[in-house]
Amino acid sequence: MKIESVVLDQWYPVATENMPVAGKVYHTRLLGQPIEYGLDDNATFYAIGRDTRRPLPVLRQYYTYWVSLGTPPAMFEIPEFHETDRRVLATVPVCVRASGLRVMENFLDIAHFPFVHEGTLGEMPYTAVKPYHVEIENNGLYVRGAAFHQPMAAFSHEGHMTISYVYRVCSPFSALLYKTCPLQPAKKDLVCIFVQPCDEDRSIVHMPMACLDDSASTQALRRFQQGIIGQDLAILNNQVPRKLPLFPDFEISTAADAASLAYRQWLSEQGVVYGTFQKS
Ligand SMILES: [Fe+2]
Repeated sequence: MKIESVVLDQWYPVATENMPVAGKVYHTRLLGQPIEYGLDDNATFYAIGRDTRRPLPVLRQYYTYWVSLGTPPAMFEIPEFHETDRRVLATVPVCVRASGLRVMENFLDIAHFPFVHEGTLGEMPYTAVKPYHVEIENNGLYVRGAAFHQPMAAFSHEGHMTISYVYRVCSPFSALLYKTCPLQPAKKDLVCIFVQPCDEDRSIVHMPMACLDDSASTQALRRFQQGIIGQDLAILNNQVPRKLPLFPDFEISTAADAASLAYRQWLSEQGVVYGTFQKS
């Protein structure tokens, strides 16, 4: 299968720094190719194509181990990872029986919070999504001005707050979420979603975070976010079709879906085909 350059020539996550054990060889898939990766005896990250036995370009950045099967661009900048007052951690990877593009779209969707994450990211009867802006800048997609009523926006804060949301889609399978930090409301916690497209309709979600929370244990912060992803899994594993349709008339949408529609449009303009549902 020939994969278009906009998908092939990217960096993809295969693990976050909390996962691989030095000396062990890990087997996974990326864009339909079997690959092996691990940390050598010096704890240096490596990856090879299982069939070709060729070394692949690798990168360790943003608490994540990245691999490319093509000619990758410079990695996008995330300045918050250099801020010393942030706690950097990651959930354990989650396998999803859906296109990575479906996972990305779900991450950008605010409207599902009260239905899927009731008690944390949303609550009845607060279902209204206020208008927000979607803009394309520097080849990426930005969602600004979104806000949502949340009963428990973060592990260390129980109590209703209006949480501001800013999304940045950095590449077809990578996005960042900046959301109001309840402990320091002038600042924002950072949640990353880096999706590994194993195949067109199977993916692994890697989710590093850079949080402003000095009190909670790493385990508690991780468990809170892991619980959120677990709730999304039931939806993601039952998407029909598993690949993402880009043509606008396929699924019904409302004004609250502006981010999703813009993401589909942006993917279309970028020429992304891998992981999309094509009309036969
Ligand atoms: Fe969700």
